[in-house]
Order: sequence, then structure tokens, then C-alpha cells
Amino acid sequence: MKREQWGSRTGFILAAVGSAVGLGNIWRFPYMAYENGGGAFFIPYLFAMLTAGIPFMILEFTLGHKYRSGAPKTLRALNNKFEWLGWFQVMISAMIAFYYVVVIAWAISYAYFAFTQAWGEDSNAFFFGEFLGVADDSAPSKLGSLQWHLLLPLCLAWAATYFATYRGVKGGIERINKILMPLLFVMVLLLIGRIIFLPGALNGINWLLEPDFSKIWDLKVWSAAYGQIFFTLSVGFAIMLSYASYLPEKSDINNNAFMTVLMNCGFSMLAGIMIFGALGYMAQAQGKDLTDVVSSGVGLAFVTLPTAINLLPAPGIMGPLFFCALMFAGISSHISIAEAVTTGLMDKLGWSRPKTATVFCSVGLVVSSLYITQGGILLLDLVDYFINNIALLGSCLVELLLVGWLCRLSDFKAHANRLSEFSIGLWWTVCIKFVSVGILLIILSNNIKTAF
Ligand code: PHE
Ligand code: NA
Repeated sequence: MKREQWGSRTGFILAAVGSAVGLGNIWRFPYMAYENGGGAFFIPYLFAMLTAGIPFMILEFTLGHKYRSGAPKTLRALNNKFEWLGWFQVMISAMIAFYYVVVIAWAISYAYFAFTQAWGEDSNAFFFGEFLGVADDSAPSKLGSLQWHLLLPLCLAWAATYFATYRGVKGGIERINKILMPLLFVMVLLLIGRIIFLPGALNGINWLLEPDFSKIWDLKVWSAAYGQIFFTLSVGFAIMLSYASYLPEKSDINNNAFMTVLMNCGFSMLAGIMIFGALGYMAQAQGKDLTDVVSSGVGLAFVTLPTAINLLPAPGIMGPLFFCALMFAGISSHISIAEAVTTGLMDKLGWSRPKTATVFCSVGLVVSSLYITQGGILLLDLVDYFINNIALLGSCLVELLLVGWLCRLSDFKAHANRLSEFSIGLWWTVCIKFVSVGILLIILSNNIKTAF
């Protein structure tokens, strides 16, 4: 059977950007930048982008394009003994898919609540108490009862991914991304356009951008920059490789990789301006210091920002806009994670796409219900910590070692250059073989040390 293909180059790039732009860009990047030197963080960040992000993206696009299969089969084509890494990546992707979807489900609920700010004055008590049903008297080791009101949004979130993976590359994934990505971009611009004119917003943005150059000499800052780059680009995870396996024969690999990375990092900047604008306004409105309101992750999106939305003009418009943006960013990433698993299984088991998508999404729905129990958030935190700090970086490192050191890297370089407008040379080889590997070794060993 002929492998499916993207309908257009724009379709592929939007899908790849859709995968890269996710929750991480909105709730992780702004805080990272603020914490690690503000404007000065852009130096290590751009450096990480050029020496790790873009080279790794080119490598994944090349592997997918050259071998036209998901991660397990591609790695097997390189060497029989590498197949396990492909399956490890597929397994971790499945684990991510099972909890990432839960956050999308929360965003769906909150988009609905936002019309009336149903979270009320105390957004913290609402989120943990009423919404998640975390019972403070229950032992943290217990999952407790299922929160039934979260089941509908969870089903809706899975339905979007099911539609995309069931319909396939052109009629599903590409079609959804062609709608969601432009919408996401416009929504964020609308939010920024309103937020920057609010009193205090520019202070917030200044806080984010003000460079603290003393941090440049801190190893932690560099490690944060590289960690963020690997996470934000969804590389080293079977994902970009799977998407590239559907590229037509004539495709400009190097150019596509540059576009994807630049658009993702550009979006992160926009998100930073949006978030810090809103935080700056909130701090001023509440007469607080910015350091008292700044936060990241779940707390930022579901506790701090709802309070900020309460204070905004036209909260019934700005609130739904923000949570729909979060939802769209999440769904497009979730689809890519699910597709990495679907392709891997289809290649190997010879199942049809509809069958594979149906089995994976139904199993996914059941497993992800674990996270909508009373103790679900504790489990989610634990899995998320392990994946981001250890599994993801470990997988990147092993992939670079196997492909960079045990295969002929020059073959891949030739493959990428054959079809591309501009060629990559020594820079690429050095970054893949030495810079990325070295940096990953440092960050990973440090993370393992702190985890245990
Ligand atoms: N890149 C996505 C983000 O920034 C998340 C992601 C990570 C997706 C790893 C897939 C794999 O949120
Ligand atoms: Na991203």
C-alpha cells in the first residue's frame, strides 16, 4: 500500500508547528525566561536553538523522509538492534498522550466557565476543591473517586484526536491543523492587542525582558535553555520523525526544519508577552509585587490567570479566548503524539488506520480516566516530572548516540542536502555528534542526581 502524504507544504509545516507549539510554549516558556535572566535568557536560548534544536529537527525530518516509516521501523532500517529505541519512544509518547489530554480537558471546561467566570473569587479553592475534587483528608497515595463532571470534556478532547488519527494525514491531521493554527495565532494576537494597553501590562513585559546578564555564567541557565528547546520542539520522540515520513519525495528538508523551529520559538515570545502583560496588569490592580503573582504550569493557567481574568475588562470575551487558545495549542500537540503511536503500531502490526486509531483512542480514554480521579493530579505531576526531566532527555540522548555515532551521519547529511535549497555542513555534524550529546549528558546526569 502506498504511504499517505501531506496535501501541501503549508499543511506539513502547520502540522509540525502544531505539534511543537503546545502547553509548554504558553505556560512553561514565559516563566523559564523570567526565572533565568529575562532578556539575557535569549542568548542561551538562541544558542540552544542553533546548536541543538535546528540540527535535531533536520535529523528527524531526514530520518522520517528517508525511511518513510514510524520510529520503530525507521530505527530497525538503520540497524536491527535499534528497534527497541523506537518502541521505547512510542511507549513514552503513549504515556504522554494519556496525561496531556487531561490538561486539554481542563482547558475545555475552563473555556466554558470563562464566559461567566464560574470559578468565582477564590480560583485556588475552586480549582483544587470543586473542580478536581482533591480531598485534603485523603492520603496522597489513593486515587479516590472518579470526578464524573470531567468525563465529558475528556471525551471531547479524545474525540478531536480520534477524528484526526482516524481520518489520516491529509483529511484529518492536516485539515485540523490548517484550522487550529491560524486561529490560535489570531487569538493570541487579539489577546496581546488588548492586554498591552492595560495599566501595568508594560511593567510586566519589562520584568520579562529586562536582562540580568550575571545569570549568563550560571550553568543552570544553560541547562534550562537546552531542556526547554528539546521539550518545546517535540524532537527525540518519534513525533517529528513520524510527521516527516509522510512528506512527498520532493521536499526541502532543511528549509522546513528552520521554518518549524523559528515559528515555534516566535510563538513562545508572543506567549511570553501575553502572559507577562496579564501578570503585570494583575499585580498593579491588586497592588502587589510581580514576584507575588508570577507562576508557571498548572498553577499559572488554572489558578493565577482565572484571577487575572476576573480583573480584566470584558472578561467574558478575554477568558474564553485564552482558554480556547490553550485548548487549540494542546489539541494540535496531542494529535501529533497520538499519531506517533498510531504510525508505529500500523507499520508493525499491519492494522488498518481506522482500527489502530480506534483501539489506541479507546485504550487511551480508559487509561486517562485515572487522572480525573481525586488523586489524579498527584499522579499527573509525578508522571510529568519523570517524563520531562528524565525520559525525554534520555530518549534524545540515546537517539543521538545511536544515529550520530553508530550510523554514517554523512549519508543523512547528503540526503537532506540533495533536496534542499541551502546545504548543511560541518556545523550540523559537530552539533549532532558533540554539542548536543555533551549538553544532554550534563543535564540528564544532573536531573537524575536531583530526582533520587
Ligand atoms: N512541544 C509540546 C509543547 O511545547 C509538547 C510536547 C512534548 C509534545 C513532547 C510532544 C512531545 O507543549
Ligand atoms: Na512547543
